[in-house]
Amino acid sequence: MRKHFAFVALALCLGAGFSAYRGGAAAQADPRQKAYATEPDWNDPQRLIPLNYQQARGKRLFYQYCVWCHADATPAGPSNRANLNPVPPLLNDGAALNGKSDEFLLEITTLGGSAMGKSAMMPPYGRTLTREEIQALIAFARAIAQPPYQPPAPR
Ligand code: HEC
Repeated sequence: MRKHFAFVALALCLGAGFSAYRGGAAAQADPRQKAYATEPDWNDPQRLIPLNYQQARGKRLFYQYCVWCHADATPAGPSNRANLNPVPPLLNDGAALNGKSDEFLLEITTLGGSAMGKSAMMPPYGRTLTREEIQALIAFARAIAQPPYQPPAPR
């Protein structure tokens, strides 16, 4: 009797584990998640830029926190950018950002404009986002840059 009970309990556990596993796989395969696997080139919306995991994470954060000031209306979405002075660079503006190091972009996003001798309209995100999230934002900026971003040669 005890043995029988143990067997039934084991079978139930395995069953539950298996359906949880299947559930996870189904969630990953949800085609709607693909919306974050690419970003249209803002200069040529017909062209889709593939994003890796970190860049896609940056894209989600960009559309939550930064799009309001660092994008124009299309294809990135609604923005207040044109009303700001100084006008913030578009996040894909390679001419403005390619020459700036990852460290600089990380610092200004963490500390905000005021701390870096720039406009206080650029908010500090160091207590809102983690370092990894800010690195993901930079990875996204680098991925969508026009002209394209070339990482500095290793020294
Ligand atoms: C309320 C508007 C606003 C929001 C929201 C905003 N920014 Fe900014 N950002 C600015 C302004 C304005 C500047 C320009 C500062 C200057 O040049 O004096 C700027 C500058 C920057 C710069 C420096 C660009 C350069 O050429 O030196 C970076 C990098 C940046 N923002 C990243 C971000 C990121 C990443 C986010 C989202 C986490 C974000 N910003 C959200 C307004 C904003």
